Amino acid sequence: MELTKLIVTEKKAEQFSGDLLVYCVEQIKKNKALKCNNPMVQSWLEQLGSMGEFSGKEGECLLLYPQVDRKGTDVPGFFSAKRLLLLGLGELEEKGVDELRERCRQAGGVVAQQAAKVKAVKLMICLPESIGLRAKAVAECFSEGVLLGDYRFLKYKKKDPKGETYLGLVEIRLGVLAATDAIHKGARQGQIAAFAGREARNMANEPGNGWTPSHFAAHARMLAKKYSLKCTVLEKDDMERLGMGGILAVNQGSTEPPRMVILDYRPINASQILLVVGKGLTFDSGGISLKPATGMEEMKYDMCGGAAVMGLMQAIGEERPDLRVIAIVPSTDNMAGGAALKPGDIITHYNGLTSEIVNTDAEGRLILADALAYGVEKFKPDYVVDLATLTGAVIVGLGHHRTGVLGNSDELVGRLLAAGERCAEPLWRLPLGKEYTKQIESQVADIKNTGGKSAGTITAAAYLEKFVGETPWAHLDIAGTAWEFTEKSYIPKGPSGTGVRTLLELVRRWKMEEKKEG
Ligand code: BES
Ligand code: MN
Ligand code: ZN
Repeated sequence: MELTKLIVTEKKAEQFSGDLLVYCVEQIKKNKALKCNNPMVQSWLEQLGSMGEFSGKEGECLLLYPQVDRKGTDVPGFFSAKRLLLLGLGELEEKGVDELRERCRQAGGVVAQQAAKVKAVKLMICLPESIGLRAKAVAECFSEGVLLGDYRFLKYKKKDPKGETYLGLVEIRLGVLAATDAIHKGARQGQIAAFAGREARNMANEPGNGWTPSHFAAHARMLAKKYSLKCTVLEKDDMERLGMGGILAVNQGSTEPPRMVILDYRPINASQILLVVGKGLTFDSGGISLKPATGMEEMKYDMCGGAAVMGLMQAIGEERPDLRVIAIVPSTDNMAGGAALKPGDIITHYNGLTSEIVNTDAEGRLILADALAYGVEKFKPDYVVDLATLTGAVIVGLGHHRTGVLGNSDELVGRLLAAGERCAEPLWRLPLGKEYTKQIESQVADIKNTGGKSAGTITAAAYLEKFVGETPWAHLDIAGTAWEFTEKSYIPKGPSGTGVRTLLELVRRWKMEEKKEG
């Protein structure tokens, strides 16, 4: 994992001498007062409030310079930090757990933004107390927010020789009254989730010529080595031998060979198996059904499902849950070379189903179909979840604010909806059904790869449904949320890393759900 150090500390914040010390301020509705857990700050708040300088509303920031105020003379008990940030949390009374968690995450994101503004590298946040959320969750969500907010992708920028470019936080201290095991665990969980999300963003930010199927394979091998996972990479000739006609068809127009990357986390005491499949399309030109030029560069993000799955496996490697988790990323680009797949062609998938290609731009389902059919047959999972930037139609329906979810299992979809709500990656379910499946019937093959103009997200999922058999399965269409996701403090412009935290939350809650059933 990366370098930012995260430390839980009981040490007095007054003695912290780093770049930025953060105090959170809560608005109390009843008596219109402001609340902060430091007596000195509390005494300032009344004055600041009456001067109208600071109201404590959500996201409000006030930067103070205690060092300048005390003019170099040492005042005992006064703040040693270079800067003091008062950060409004807004009203928190009568808020639900999910909402409070999100407040903390967003507050963490604002801290990262403010830190960047003043180029702070050493930071301390005094965590708010008694806000109706367990101290563990406060630590988790603040860490998550600040670390997700403290993200930048500078790999392709010119190095500045003077070293003036701000590279982000180096040390984050979380100030608490009592550094319990639970708080340590919370902070660690937040860190794991954030680093996994940042890793997914890094992959997504790479251009089509910087992240190819072979990069997915190399990354998976690295993870496998680091976390003792089993890594298998299917090469083009393996796919030919296995009859994976979908991914091979999409790859036909490319000079870059395809890969199917499999990572298997197998703990000794696992009773169930979760299979996750992510669309790893490293660039989608549309193929012969070429996309318009405007905005085509965004199709380097068409591998965000695969990136999310890789991020998840990193988090799993760190956390080592009692659940077997297997990840598959089918990966290729979709190009229009001379040998490319053509509209009208008929292909045969891994499970023997034939498909008439109506539009070569509906390629995601072709590579996912082989991966799903192969994964279900080979590993016999208890549950399957796939993630894909699959359809523009999901953006028409849900915009950039919710991921579309579809599936054959109310239970699995329900778990995903709850997990998404908990980590503020909200999902919305769309239906499946025979009327939609009928739209992908073909005159000449078993199915066809588009279902016409209407219900594009659903007919795409109806296609995938043909490849999971009876296995409980859910599909997340992240085309609207993988980038341009609802703008907020801890989600910068560009790829969001969506899906990583939802899946991680799903895994974290597994034990609890298993107990409910049994
Ligand atoms: N990768 C795209 C989906 C997409 C579109 C993601 C816009 C993000 C933003 C996918 O491969 C695709 O091209 N889908 C087509 C399907 C159609 C041809 C049936 C689409 O949505 O237009
Ligand atoms: Mn496409
Ligand atoms: Zn695509």
